[in-house]
Amino acid sequence: MNAQPHRKLAVMPGDGIGGEVMAATLDVLERLRDRHELPLAWDELEWPATDWHRRHGVMMPEDALDQLTRYDALLLGALGDPGPSSDPNRYLLPDGISLAPLLTLRKGFDLWACERPARLLPGAPQYLADPRAAEVDMMVIRENSEGEYVNQGGRVHRGTEREVATQLEVFTRPAAERLIRHAFERARQRAEARAQPRTFTRPDGNTAAAQVCLITKRNALPHWGELYTEVFAEIAREYPDVATHHELVDAACMKFVQCPWIFDVVVASNLQGDILTDLAAVLSGGMGVAPSININPDTRDYPALFEPTHGSAPDIAGQNKADPRAMMLTAAEMLDWLGTEETVFARAASELRAAVAADLSAQTAGAVRSTDQISAAIIESLPA
Ligand code: IPM
Ligand code: MN
Repeated sequence: MNAQPHRKLAVMPGDGIGGEVMAATLDVLERLRDRHELPLAWDELEWPATDWHRRHGVMMPEDALDQLTRYDALLLGALGDPGPSSDPNRYLLPDGISLAPLLTLRKGFDLWACERPARLLPGAPQYLADPRAAEVDMMVIRENSEGEYVNQGGRVHRGTEREVATQLEVFTRPAAERLIRHAFERARQRAEARAQPRTFTRPDGNTAAAQVCLITKRNALPHWGELYTEVFAEIAREYPDVATHHELVDAACMKFVQCPWIFDVVVASNLQGDILTDLAAVLSGGMGVAPSININPDTRDYPALFEPTHGSAPDIAGQNKADPRAMMLTAAEMLDWLGTEETVFARAASELRAAVAADLSAQTAGAVRSTDQISAAIIESLPA
């Protein structure tokens, strides 16, 4: 028997396809737990969810954060429109209500970094025609605690001709410093972990094995853009082994499509990172295979939140059509994070990734498979 204390997960399927992709992922996690005797236990929660709102008038209990602090990690499917969208009478809430728990959890637990790796695994759909797009291997690190998402502002003279809406953005130096330093740390770690070294050119003409690209819109939003630029330059001095780069967010969108292989770690504000990561997800095969994690790299006092980049997909909800692989790859990230010091979690994570990769490379291009079929194939390719 394993004597280590169990890591406890709160499993929150949420809305729409969340339940389907979570069920498939739990089957895989159970398999891995048995095989590796992982000290891992979970409770499945009915909230946050639109159906909980239908029954209780709120997306989650008032003391949700208190209840969740006892867990090591939160595994969340999706929130939003519960679907199916063919049902005009479904219980549907405004986005501001159904999605609020996501932001409450990120902010309430100070999960200030959102990491979204984008790597095109062999067999995953490659949407770009240039063969070099197969080399895409970047990680977008998104500021997850403030910026455009502070939800400050308001509306006056509502509904009248002189109505005014304000939406404030808040950028603090401490948040910029911790985020950017984390991006450089990750860049170093990624370079060390890479089997095939990559080369990035520094402005002085020297080369580096890693790169961090800062995204801003400092030509139009100079206040925070310049703050970030200064902090970036200060911190970059501590990492002479890492190449640096800057892109305005609009140009970054262009280059993500034109030459995405030039990027390594990309660090962006909350909203700009949100937008860029939908694009990055497509570069790595689409939303069906795009993982995402919300962490506080400084402390484990609160649980981290693991939820794929995709949403509740009401158009296909309840039809056994959702791709569970983004949820599974997100669970692999979670296993890695849970087991920082313990190889057994890392081994389970790499087996899970390998099983997803095997499934991707075996799939017939254009073939449509159900959630259950994908899940069964992945379980099949896990070591016995
Ligand atoms: C995401 C989502 C959320 C975000 C929404 C649902 C609030 O798009 O996780 O990327 O904007 O952060
Ligand atoms: Mn998004």
